Amino acid sequence: MSGKFITLEGMDGAGKSTHIPNIIKILQARGFEVVSTREPGGTALGERLRELLLHEPMHAETETLLMFAARREHIATVIGPALARGAYVLSDRFTDATYAYQCGAKGVPATKIQILEQWVQSELQPDVTLLFDVPVEVSMQRLAATRVPDKFEREDANFFSRIRQAYLQRAQENPARFRVIDASVALTEVVANVEAILATI
Ligand code: TMP
Repeated sequence: MSGKFITLEGMDGAGKSTHIPNIIKILQARGFEVVSTREPGGTALGERLRELLLHEPMHAETETLLMFAARREHIATVIGPALARGAYVLSDRFTDATYAYQCGAKGVPATKIQILEQWVQSELQPDVTLLFDVPVEVSMQRLAATRVPDKFEREDANFFSRIRQAYLQRAQENPARFRVIDASVALTEVVANVEAILATI
């Protein structure tokens, strides 16, 4: 048996990161090494790029290129080696986020992202993607209540609405990989849904 590449996606404020400790615990209980990581970030270089990406205004295509630069390093030094030794890799965001944010919300052509995806990832795709879906109002209320917003989190409702639509479209186009989770319900219910999905993978 070997591990799998699992990614978590969703709008800012969807609450996906809350579930990471529980997911790690469940996967470790199967006796596997679990590598928990995130994008942008996951490496020393990636975390420095994250600081720029989250706080520095830049052209949407510059943003796309830097996301993939960070991703290249992440795959080369963290994700690739972990999968090769049979670990589970749990990444808080991956390339679906680039399709949702840079393409869906900011208008970077999907064809350009596909070129970078092919270059940087070759055949690598997540085995399973958990999409935490919430209505835009819920995400915006949660953000307002919980943290100082970064560059992305300061955007308006239309921006968030485009992200949500792009994610749902990705899920529709890749039904074998995506599991869409209604994250607007009570936390205990979301936890139960996540656990039911993990039991199937
Ligand atoms: P986080 O708050 O979930 O850690 O994500 C950081 C922000 O980066 C979030 O607003 C989404 C954004 N992002 C993109 O715009 N494109 C990407 O490819 C990735 C991985 C994240």
